[in-house]
Amino acid sequence: MNHPAWGTPPEVFSIASARGMGRTVVPMKSSPDVTPPKTAVITGAGSGIGAAIALRLAARGWKVVLGGRTPATLASVAAQIRQAGGVAEVVVGDVTKAADVARLIAAGGPTLDALIHSAGKGHCLTIDELDEQEFRETLEVAVLGAFLTAKQALPKLRAGTNGAGHIIQIASLASGGTWNKEVGYGTAKGAQLKFALHLASQMEEEAKAGGRTIHVHAVCPGTVDTPFWKAIPQRTIEPQLCLKAAEVAWVVEQIIDNPATNAEELAKIRPRHEIVIKRHAPFERWNNVIALAHESHP
Ligand SMILES: NC(=O)c1ccc[n+]([C@@H]2O[C@H](COP(=O)([O-])OP(=O)(O)OC[C@H]3O[C@@H](n4cnc5c(N)ncnc54)[C@H](OP(=O)(O)O)[C@@H]3O)[C@@H](O)[C@H]2O)c1
Repeated sequence: MNHPAWGTPPEVFSIASARGMGRTVVPMKSSPDVTPPKTAVITGAGSGIGAAIALRLAARGWKVVLGGRTPATLASVAAQIRQAGGVAEVVVGDVTKAADVARLIAAGGPTLDALIHSAGKGHCLTIDELDEQEFRETLEVAVLGAFLTAKQALPKLRAGTNGAGHIIQIASLASGGTWNKEVGYGTAKGAQLKFALHLASQMEEEAKAGGRTIHVHAVCPGTVDTPFWKAIPQRTIEPQLCLKAAEVAWVVEQIIDNPATNAEELAKIRPRHEIVIKRHAPFERWNNVIALAHESHP
C-alpha cells in the first residue's frame, strides 16, 4: 500500500476503531424532498466530490449552480442532472477571480440556501520540491476561493427565508495534519478550515442578533478516489482503499438535513462499514468540523 500519512494521528483513523462500530450499511439513496426548492452554488462541481454533491442535492429537488473552469465536465454533470429531471446551471470560471465568482453567485438568483466550496488542487511535495507557482495556486484555490465565494454569496444567503442557510468547505484530513510532503497543501487546507471556523463564529453572532441562521461546516476527507490524483504524480492511490466521492457527498447531505449533527452521530450511520467518521485533531472541540476516511488510512 502506498499511503503516506496525511498528518493524522494513527489512533484517529485506525482499523480497530472502525470494526464492530455502527450498524448495517445505509443505502446511498436520496429522494426529492425540498419544498419550496432550494438553491446551492457548488464550486469544483465538474468532477469528484463537487459533482457528487451536485447530483445528490439536485436529486432532492435543489437547483444547483455548477462552478468550475472546464466547460465539458460541467456540461456533463448538468446533463446528468437534467436527464434525471433536476435543475442545473453551469457557470464557467475561476474561483480565484472575483469577476468570475460574481457571475457564479449571480446565477443562483436573488437568494441562496447553500454555498459548497469544493474546488481545489493538491500535491505531495516538500518545501524543496514545491515551487512558488504551485504554492500560490494551491493556496489561492482553497483560501482565496473560500473567501471570494463566501463574501459574494453571503448577501444572498442572508436574504434567504427558506429555513437555514449553509456554507460548507470541503477541507481535508491535511487541514489538521503535519505530513512533511504537504507543506503547501496542508497549509492551504488548514487555512480553509480555519476560515470556516471564523466565519461560523460570525454567523452565530448574526443569528443571535436576529439574522438568518447560516451554518458553517468544514468536511475533512482522507483520500478520495477522484480525478484529484491525476494531477499528483508523486503518489499512487489504490481506489479500493479510498473514500468514494458519493460518501463525502453523503456527509454534506447529512449536515444539511441536521446541522446539529456531529462526528459521533454520523459514525453510527456511516455509509459503509469501512468508513471511519471522527472528530478531527486538533479541532476536536468543534462539532462543525467532520473528518472521514477509509479505515485503512494511516
Ligand atoms: N481526492 C482526495 O483525496 C481529497 C481528499 C481530501 C480533500 N479533498 C478536497 O476535495 C475537494 C474536491 O476535490 P476532488 O477530490 O473532488 O478532486 P477533483 O475531481 O479534481 O475536483 C476539484 C475540482 O476543482 C476545480 N477547480 C480547481 N481549481 C479551480 C479554480 N481555480 N477555479 C474553479 N474550479 C477549480 C476542478 O475543475 P476545473 O479544473 O475544471 O476548474 C475540479 O472539478 C478539493 O478541495 C480537495 O482539496 C480531496
